[in-house]
Amino acid sequence: MARRKPKLLPGIRIEQIGAKAKGVGRAPDGRVVFVPYTAPGDLVDVQVRKKRKAYYEGTVAVLKEASPLRVPPVCEHYGICGGCQLQHVSYETQLQAKEQTVLDALRRLGGLSWKKQMPILASPRVHAYRNKMEYAFTASRWLTAEEINSDTSFDRRGLGFHVPGHWDKILDIHHCHLQPEPGNRIRNRLRDWSKENGIPFYHPRERTGLLRQLTVRTTRTGEIMLIVHFFQDDRPAVEKVMRFLENEFPEITSLQYVINPKPNDTIYDLPVQLWSGRDHIIERVGDLRFRIKPKSFFQTNSWQVENMYDRIRAYAGIRKDDLVYDLYSGTGSITLYLARDARRVIGIETLPQAVDDARYNARLNEIENTDFVQGDAKDLFTGELIHAYGRPDVLVVDPPREGLHKDVTAQILRLLPRRVVYVSCNPATQARDLALMKNFYDISLIHPVDMFPQTHHVENIAVLDRKA
Ligand SMILES: C[S@@+](CC[C@H](N)C(=O)[O-])C[C@H]1O[C@@H](n2cnc3c(N)ncnc32)[C@H](O)[C@@H]1O
Repeated sequence: MARRKPKLLPGIRIEQIGAKAKGVGRAPDGRVVFVPYTAPGDLVDVQVRKKRKAYYEGTVAVLKEASPLRVPPVCEHYGICGGCQLQHVSYETQLQAKEQTVLDALRRLGGLSWKKQMPILASPRVHAYRNKMEYAFTASRWLTAEEINSDTSFDRRGLGFHVPGHWDKILDIHHCHLQPEPGNRIRNRLRDWSKENGIPFYHPRERTGLLRQLTVRTTRTGEIMLIVHFFQDDRPAVEKVMRFLENEFPEITSLQYVINPKPNDTIYDLPVQLWSGRDHIIERVGDLRFRIKPKSFFQTNSWQVENMYDRIRAYAGIRKDDLVYDLYSGTGSITLYLARDARRVIGIETLPQAVDDARYNARLNEIENTDFVQGDAKDLFTGELIHAYGRPDVLVVDPPREGLHKDVTAQILRLLPRRVVYVSCNPATQARDLALMKNFYDISLIHPVDMFPQTHHVENIAVLDRKA
C-alpha cells in the first residue's frame, strides 16, 4: 500500500512565538499551527508532522516571506543541534516572546491576575554564559544531507551534542556559542589529538570504544573543571589521555575522570577519580562562595544568577525575626543568600549530594543560621518538621519543572506563611499551582527572568501575599 504523503499547509502566517519558542499560526480549518524556528511575520508552507483535534505541529517546508524580525543565526550548527531555538531572532524579540509566554500561561492556564509586573530581566550575557557543558564522543557522528549525498567517505568520529530525537546520533560541534572559552578550545583539541593518536571513540549502538563523554565546567572566578568519561578501564589509554590534558591545559584547576561501563550516561552512581588539581571548583555569587563538585547542581548562568537571587532576596521582604523555609534548595544557594536577613532559614532538598554541598557551603561562608534537611519536600514539609523548627513566616520555593507536589501546596495553604516567593522554570506548572492558592494569596508581583538566552527556557518569580 502506498504511504500517504504528509500534509502540506500552504501560506501560514506566523503571528507570535509561543511556548517552547514555537511560532504560532492558524490553519484554514481553524486549528492552531505550531512551527519551530519561525518568527512573527513569516509566511511559510508547513509540512505537517503531527495532527491533533485542536492543532497541527509541523516544520517549515518553504519560507515564502521572511519576517523583518529575523536575524542571521550566529551558530553554524543552529537548527540541527537543538540546543538553541531562538537564535534566528534578535535578543529583544527573544525577551518579548519569553515574557509573553509567561503572561499567557498565568492568564490562560491559571486564570490569574496580579498587581504588578516587572519587565523581563535580561541576561548580562547573551552568549558564552553556560558554566556547564556535556559533550558526547561518537564513532558514528551525524552526517549532514550534503555529506550523505556526496561521493566522499568521511571520518565518522566526532564530539558534540545528541541530535534531538536520536539517542545514538551525535552532531560534531566545532563551536558552541553558549559556552565561554576555553570550553571550545579544549573540546576541539581533545577530539583532534584523540583522532591523531588512535584513541577509540565510543559507539553507542555497538557499545565499544573508550572515550565516552566530556564535561566542562567553568566559573566566573576563572576555575575550570574537566571530567572525562571513559567506557572501559583501559589503564594505559586512560592515563595517556589524562596526561595529555594535564600537560596541554595547565589552566584546568580540577581534572577528573570516571569509568562508565553502564548502558546509560549518568555518572551519579559512579565514583569520579581526581587526576590532578582540586576535586572541586569555587564559584562566587554576590559575596558568597560555593563549592561545586563533579556531581553538584549549580545554576547554569553564573552571570545572571546573582541578579535573580538579588531580586528573590528583595521580594522575600524578610524581617530580622523571620523563620524562612526554602523548598527544593539544591546546593543551598538561595537559602544562604537569604540567611543574612532572617532569624533562621531551613532548606529542604531531595538529593543527598546537594545537601552535603549546601552544608559545606554554609561552613565555607561562615553562616550559622541555616539547616538543611534531606528528603522529599512532600514528606518533610509537614507537621513533624514544623513542630521541630516552627511555622514559616516566609517561604521560598524553586521546584523542578513538574512544579509543586499537591501535598506541598496543601501544606502551604494550611500554614499560610505571610509571603511566598515562587521561583519557577515552567510557567505552565507555576500557573497550575498559583491557581490552587488564589483564594488565599494575592499575587503582588511577577518578574520573568531570562537565564538562558537563545533557548526557549524562561524563569518566573511570583510574589504572593497572604490575603487579609
Ligand atoms: C530548580 S532546582 C533549584 C535549586 C536551587 N534553588 C538553586 O537555585 O540552585 C530544583 C531542586 O529541587 C530538587 N528536588 C526535586 N524534587 C524534589 C522533591 N520532591 N523534594 C525536594 N527537592 C526536590 C532538585 O534536586 C533540585 O536541586
